[in-house]
Amino acid sequence: MTSRSPSGVEHGPAVPATRFVGRQADLENVRRRLAESRLVTLTGVGGVGKTRLAVELTRTLGRAFPDGIRMVDLSAVGETGQIAQAVVTGLAVIDRSIGTPESKLIGHLTGRQMLLILDNCEHVAEGCSALIEEILDHTDQVRVLATSRRTLGVPGEHLYPVQPLAVPDMSRLPGAADLAAVDAMQLLADRARATQPDFALTDANLAAAARLCVRLDGLPLAIELACTRLRSLSLQELTERLEARLDVLTGPVTRSGQRTRSRQHTLRAVMDWSHSLCSPRQRLLWARLSVFAGNFDLRAAEAVCSGDGLPRDDVLDELDQLVAQSVVAAEPTGTTVRFRLLETIRQYGRERLAELGELENLRERHLEHYLTTARQVAAGWATPGQREGLLRLRSEYPNLRAALDHALAEPTDGRRALELVTALRQLWYADGYLSEGRDWLERVLAAAPTTETPEDRRALADGLWVAAWVTLLQGDHERAAARIDHCESLADRPGPDRAAGFVSALRGTSLLFRNRLPQAQAAYEQAVVVFRRISDTEGLLWTLFQLAITASHQGDSARAERICRESIELSEATGERLCRSYAMWVLGFDTWRHGDARRAEQIVAEALAGHRDFHDAVGVALLIELAAWIADTRGELATSARYLSVADAVWESIGTRLTAFGPPLQEHRLACESSLRARLDPAALRAARKVPRFTSVDDAISAVLDPEPAAPPAVKPSVLTGREREIVPLLADGLSNREIAARLVISPRTVDGHVERILAKLGFSTRTQVAVWVARNG
Ligand SMILES: Nc1ncnc2c1ncn2[C@@H]1O[C@H](COP(=O)(O)OP(=O)(O)OP(=O)(O)O)[C@@H](O)[C@H]1O
Ligand SMILES: [Mg+2]
Repeated sequence: MTSRSPSGVEHGPAVPATRFVGRQADLENVRRRLAESRLVTLTGVGGVGKTRLAVELTRTLGRAFPDGIRMVDLSAVGETGQIAQAVVTGLAVIDRSIGTPESKLIGHLTGRQMLLILDNCEHVAEGCSALIEEILDHTDQVRVLATSRRTLGVPGEHLYPVQPLAVPDMSRLPGAADLAAVDAMQLLADRARATQPDFALTDANLAAAARLCVRLDGLPLAIELACTRLRSLSLQELTERLEARLDVLTGPVTRSGQRTRSRQHTLRAVMDWSHSLCSPRQRLLWARLSVFAGNFDLRAAEAVCSGDGLPRDDVLDELDQLVAQSVVAAEPTGTTVRFRLLETIRQYGRERLAELGELENLRERHLEHYLTTARQVAAGWATPGQREGLLRLRSEYPNLRAALDHALAEPTDGRRALELVTALRQLWYADGYLSEGRDWLERVLAAAPTTETPEDRRALADGLWVAAWVTLLQGDHERAAARIDHCESLADRPGPDRAAGFVSALRGTSLLFRNRLPQAQAAYEQAVVVFRRISDTEGLLWTLFQLAITASHQGDSARAERICRESIELSEATGERLCRSYAMWVLGFDTWRHGDARRAEQIVAEALAGHRDFHDAVGVALLIELAAWIADTRGELATSARYLSVADAVWESIGTRLTAFGPPLQEHRLACESSLRARLDPAALRAARKVPRFTSVDDAISAVLDPEPAAPPAVKPSVLTGREREIVPLLADGLSNREIAARLVISPRTVDGHVERILAKLGFSTRTQVAVWVARNG
């Protein structure tokens, strides 16, 4: 289910590493409920398996929702409860426009047939209910599946209590084969094998296994925790020890196998037991790890959780032990491993942390660590580490939010909150999180410290220019101007500084977007002088390409080209890539305007190729727009029309339009459209406008860069088999192999094979080429 949004952000649940057991009836029942009701809430105690059931549903329900299934984990949403924003971010709705997160979410969901899964709603139940009600009221086809330990109370909500896994009936012990088939027994056997690969349920251990499952109430989390002890205990010993423990903590089981205390007590007792079996260092680490939101990496665990009884060098070993005991889950992600505590286990750790009196200290260290991370990424912007830095911020988003929350909660921490929100600027404007960034900036600025010391003054000035930048990109000129003025009044005197440079540069941008070109040029020139004097590469790079396009709009091609070349050289010397591609865009634009469309096309292709793994949607949209205008000039009318459609798809995904970037660009767009209307016959125009749905910026780039065959392939559709002919239109509609498999009720692996053969027979290398071919051949 994991998919990529135009921003390149991964979302959707990670595929669990462990086997899913049983629950076939639950899967079917929830599916039916979802067909009848637009809101189904999976309720049940912690650790019963709500989240896991929801994840499994995403794997089996795909076909029912043409626009997919998206899962958003709300466990890391802090008390301040920005639920709608968390969902907008979780869905990777990259939205640069102004508006409430609620309205953006509704805008994004409208017209979509999708299932939205909101996981872990209980701690923000009220806010969740309000949001879900709004979603259901304002959309027709979206369905919501929530998981929550308690009901949400939304009208029309269909509750689905998730029961523990079925356990053997001890009053009527069936035969061995039947016993081993019971769900809880299967989970036990499966998790036991993770510890002891040759574990099997045999006549010798069946009775003990059955007793253990009953005693643990069939609670999956309790079974998982208990099974990790099979490394050092036999099943019989484990059962006896746990029984003794549980009898003390929760009262004995009655003869018929009934519980005398609630399931919460059972799980609690198992967690207490697991905790007591941990070494003192492991206990300390468990408690301290609870400070993280979402997942975290080893580096963070070492930095935040070491010291005072836990040497830094031992963190890895202890973490490893906690993984072996199922207290911590390890999630391999590409080149690194990240770690996560299940919510119930995290909460348990949080209570221990509070008991130890370390909560404040840990929050403090967590904030320091993420502030350092953010500062490093900001400092590494104009270096070859730029992209990795951005990816790092993306994967640390829940922790960065938690750190911001913490800094905001401390009235004395105004400066660190400012520093953090400023250091995250690339996340806000280069990664598309404008709205969320603006929201944080507003809150942090409202709580900003008085400006008594030069450090406070500088931090505030930096926060103000970042806020102005974000606001400007959202098209709110008035508010941006107020921020810029305020920033200017604080800029250090005497002599230029970074804030002064950005004040000038942003004034330039505001003027450029409003087509006041000579004034924009003067402002940018002033900024360039400042940035050069203080050797600020980041500021200089952001300013140079804007100065260049201002020159180009004014007809000064020689100057535009000179500035672009300087900017590109500087990017190349430092390893910076993002501003380089913007400078290439300006160079391509200027080259096209001054007559060399062929050369311009090459420049655009090179710039687009540089974006392949960067995911800057605005840069890509601007380049594809330009590619369309160039194609029109070169008489490649159908190609031009298709590129415009591709660009529109990208613009739509980020919620802004070319118009936001000033009238001159918009004029070129309009000219291109009217040229196509005049020169291309309506049927061809319609066909070219039919572009496949994009799931990523990379797809959009491929639609432009991957060479199409000059002529329709020599083969006729008749070389395709019947099944292949069925698949071709689905491919052309942009469906993934998995979606095609669901549609045709065949396995994804079979579809993979068909798609490969189709491409080979038609002589294509990409799916987009198939789409274009279908559009052309009706
Ligand atoms: N049917 C199942 N098959 C295999 N493993 C399961 C199953 N149900 C639950 N588990 C495992 O049990 C553990 C607890 O499940 P899960 O996290 O889904 O509980 P939850 O009800 O969502 O708890 P919480 O209220 O704390 O969020 C997880 O490790 C999960 O993978
Ligand atoms: Mg859960």
